Amino acid sequence: GTTRHYSFDIRVANVSRLCATKSILTVNGEFPGPRIVAREGDRVVVKVTNHAQYNVTVHWHGVRQLRSGWADGPAYVTQCPIQTGRNYVYNFTVVGQRGTLFWHAHISWLRTTLYGPIIILPKLGVPYPFAKPYKEVPIIFGEWWNADTEAVISQALQTGGGPNVSDAHTINGLPGPLYNCSAKDTFKLKVKPGKTYLLRLINAAVNDELFFSIANHSVTVVDVDAVYVKPFDAETILISPGQTTNVLLHAKPTYPNATFFMMARPYATGSGTFDNSTVAAVLEYQKPHSSSAAGFDKNLPLHKPTLPAFNDTSAAANFTGKLRSMASALFPANVPQTVDRRFFFTVGLGTRPCPKNQTCQGPNGTKFAATVNNISFVSPTTALLQAHFTGKSNGVYTPDFPVVPLMPFNYTGTPPNNTMVSNGTKLVVLPFNTSVELVMQDTSVLGAESHPLHLHGYNFFVVGQGFGNYDPANDPAKFNLVDPVERNTIGVPAGGWVAIRFLADNPGVWFMHCHIEAHMSWGLRMAWLVLNGRLPNQKLPPPPSDLPKC
Ligand code: C2O
Repeated sequence: GTTRHYSFDIRVANVSRLCATKSILTVNGEFPGPRIVAREGDRVVVKVTNHAQYNVTVHWHGVRQLRSGWADGPAYVTQCPIQTGRNYVYNFTVVGQRGTLFWHAHISWLRTTLYGPIIILPKLGVPYPFAKPYKEVPIIFGEWWNADTEAVISQALQTGGGPNVSDAHTINGLPGPLYNCSAKDTFKLKVKPGKTYLLRLINAAVNDELFFSIANHSVTVVDVDAVYVKPFDAETILISPGQTTNVLLHAKPTYPNATFFMMARPYATGSGTFDNSTVAAVLEYQKPHSSSAAGFDKNLPLHKPTLPAFNDTSAAANFTGKLRSMASALFPANVPQTVDRRFFFTVGLGTRPCPKNQTCQGPNGTKFAATVNNISFVSPTTALLQAHFTGKSNGVYTPDFPVVPLMPFNYTGTPPNNTMVSNGTKLVVLPFNTSVELVMQDTSVLGAESHPLHLHGYNFFVVGQGFGNYDPANDPAKFNLVDPVERNTIGVPAGGWVAIRFLADNPGVWFMHCHIEAHMSWGLRMAWLVLNGRLPNQKLPPPPSDLPKC
């Protein structure tokens, strides 16, 4: 492979959306940020320089980071943040992945504006397992706040309430014509009749799972989280924060006398408030010689897609149930057939006490919290991976993450009386090459809610999922160990569970968390420490010399 060099200068820029101008953090002044393009097998070297007044890190979401854990990016997990005026070079190779991923800031809520696509092309001369598309187009979903998002989250954490919801959803940074002042801020995709387009969908939204649909067009799903899937057609796509989905859009064979909206809006299961507004972009068939500017041709009839209701869990389950690994000779599904360690984690919300001299806006005057196995993860002040590598873990973390729930209860039934959570910076330690099965069970404490769980450093196979409480006596018999979907982020369904398997063959400290930023901020996060193997290529190399210090 070749080496691809990028420079990311983090700096503020003024951006106007929804009738107002705001100063946001950007990479190189661009919003959304620049694309990283690499072929499978290439090395990617990104020099990140921080010109902003905030500490920054960048995460290459979904990149496996085989033996390059120092380049993963989550603040205080694999690195200390890059301070103002400093830089850090992220250096990693893309191995065994093809499709779409994305990069985003991984500290506080800076990812609300710091994000962009990662496009992984097949090796030179290796075709796609589908007909070569005429063009490829990233479609990156985001959320826009009129307020400063650092103020939004710090106010929420102070008072313990839910953070203010966003003011708009966006496609490629643009809210589209259904919002005030935004007709000019509409993403427009011009297509030619009869051609096929590869849409690289990325959900970089902060707090919302999304339904996405294109009027009068179905699409063919071909890849999720940079892994090929068995192709299938869909009218509506469900995409959770942290997930990516490649779809083929087949433009109609003859020029239709119409313009079509592509729209996205939330799939939301909780009892909390959410941004229920709709982003629209335009699919326009290019007439020969036409050159309409921004916006869309108002003279043509306009078709809008019908999106499922915001709480349509069966539409969501129907879509995710269709995803299968390719599992072919060329693209095998290496599902672990045996298991060394089984884990059962509850994921859900809870409460924490309100400090004495404060009024709190959470349930019954408490503060909102979120947990894995009732442990709300407390961020350390130095990086976990550094602490492990230097043998100075005392006072940074403890290797005693509870691998069974602290207080078992009927997870999808009546919630327990005591909803208070415990705090800790606790890790699960895994010997190299441990074959792991993990069942994640949603809890109905403070309402059942879907949680898109993201694992760093690995893809996993989704071998089972269901509603209600996981039944260890009967559910495993139904697991799919042949062609389960392989991905890095999976929605644990509201009032249900998922089972995943992965082989712990990548030494390092690997964060796992809900990719809904509000839940992540409340503590729905934990980390795995995967130890070195015996052979040289089974060990994490020492950190690069420019690794930031805390
Ligand atoms: Cu995309 Cu730890 O995150």
